[in-house]
Amino acid sequence: MSITAETSLRYHGVARALHWIMAILIIGNLVGGIFHDGLGKMFPVMPLHKATGITILALALARLGWRLTHPAPALPAEMPGWERLVAKVTHIAFYALMVLVPLSGWIMVSPGDRPLNWFGLFPIPKFGLAKTDAIVGISHEGHEILGLAFAALVILHIVAALRHHFILRDTVLRRMA
Ligand code: HEM
Ligand code: HEM
Repeated sequence: MSITAETSLRYHGVARALHWIMAILIIGNLVGGIFHDGLGKMFPVMPLHKATGITILALALARLGWRLTHPAPALPAEMPGWERLVAKVTHIAFYALMVLVPLSGWIMVSPGDRPLNWFGLFPIPKFGLAKTDAIVGISHEGHEILGLAFAALVILHIVAALRHHFILRDTVLRRMA
């Protein structure tokens, strides 16, 4: 395979950079969110969780814009239809979760008294909401349920990527590497 053909089979550098930077930030936020009770005894994890989450939201919107204007490289020809479908549904769910999970977090903390800022550098505005507003309760429930669903999907996604690379030995992981 020529170098040009090899390159055209990979995701664009921008897509790869966004994928890996966001993977680190999201996994960090999932761990920080799920274990915030225990971790909170060692250091103030929540201000970090919130600022990282808002960063993820901004990156997700940029990434969605990029993705809608740049198609993904082709999958290996031998990949069965059901796998393509599962991958597609997972990827669409990821884009939705990358927006909905931080947005629900932002909404649910808005009526609270705690300050919201970006790593202590500048304040992040809050939505003008009261604790009793329905959207606040829904967002709180949603943040927990969707957050845990996000963690489960990430595990499935990683297992699938490793299966392609080490068991099926196809190009799927190299397209994103
Ligand atoms: C992609 C970004 C984010 C992810 C993946 C994420 C994930 C999570 C998870 C998994 C939990 C634990 C839920 C539970 O089992 O109780 C959690 C809790 C929490 N998150 Fe996030 N979060 C994100 C962004 C945000 C943002 C932007 C904010 C606020 C600005 C926020 C505020 C909170 C708060 C306050 C809690 C504690 C909720 C409670 O214990 O009642 N999160 N997050
Ligand atoms: C929080 C963690 C992660 C999230 C949210 C995530 C999200 C995504 C999304 C949305 C795509 C589709 C890209 C597109 O077509 O626009 C993708 C593709 C991919 N990801 Fe991840 N990813 C994460 C972590 C990982 C990790 C740790 C690995 C490797 C072990 C990995 C391997 C891949 C591979 C190989 C592809 C290309 C698959 C394909 O073309 O169908 N991802 N990821």
